[in-house]
Amino acid sequence: MSALLAATGVHKSFDGFRVLDNVSFAVPERGLTGIVGTNGAGKSTLFAVVSGQLDADSGRVSFADADIVGMPPLRRARLGLGRTFQVPREFAHLTVRENFLVAARREYGETLRSVFIGWGRVRREETRLVERADGWIDFLNLRAVADKPAGTLSGGQKKLLELGRMLMTEPRCILLDEPFAGVNPVLVEEISNRIRELNATHGIAFVIIEHHLEALKALVQHLYVMDQGRVIADGEPAAVLAEPRVLEAYMGGVI
Ligand SMILES: Nc1ncnc2c1ncn2[C@@H]1O[C@H](COP(=O)(O)OP(=O)(O)OP(=O)(O)O)[C@@H](O)[C@H]1O
Ligand SMILES: [Mg+2]
Repeated sequence: MSALLAATGVHKSFDGFRVLDNVSFAVPERGLTGIVGTNGAGKSTLFAVVSGQLDADSGRVSFADADIVGMPPLRRARLGLGRTFQVPREFAHLTVRENFLVAARREYGETLRSVFIGWGRVRREETRLVERADGWIDFLNLRAVADKPAGTLSGGQKKLLELGRMLMTEPRCILLDEPFAGVNPVLVEEISNRIRELNATHGIAFVIIEHHLEALKALVQHLYVMDQGRVIADGEPAAVLAEPRVLEAYMGGVI
């Protein structure tokens, strides 16, 4: 079975400093995959290469049987590959609901399309969009803050908002960069459960970078460990985390 998302032999250097060194990984359709590694291991850079914010120096990246190297991020998103960022990028002054709507509009180029299809239909589509946003807002338990400026949300709620903005683009695979960072333990559990449900009922595959090893171990089926730009181990999460070279890499690290 071919992978939904795969990177093969990816290299990336910044000013001669090798940040990704022959990195390969694969995510099956509907898979839940984790990536861990100490600070500076190259995890976020890998996401940037996979989602198109950065070009790799060499290597291949494929998604849904298409070679996506060189493809701009928006086109990758249209194929169904979405990414959230380590530091949430919400529009702080817009309400939570408006943030959801902006995510979808940017995706579909709604403004330009309105020129061709007329305002009546635009209004109907707008209503449908608001309904869709409200559906996800309820799913993510954000109803109480839907009309509040996004900047006023807690760390955990901002992570849920990021996830929601992603869902508005109808992805097949979501890359989450540290969804549990700065999130209280109750919300970590809540976010984990939302991810499980999105995976089980909507078939969305997830790749999750996280330092919170216990929560990640409980969530994913397959785990990759990165150290200094390389993948040093991968496999069943509990077994991988017990491997001597993984423990060694983490020694003095962030566990
Ligand atoms: N745009 C850039 N220009 C130069 N160096 C960069 C750039 N982005 C990242 N780096 C460097 O590349 C290395 C890997 O960074 P990256 O952000 O991918 O690590 P990470 O594994 O996500 O770490 P963390 O767990 O702290 O988020 C670091 O040494 C970082 O300083
Ligand atoms: Mg990072």
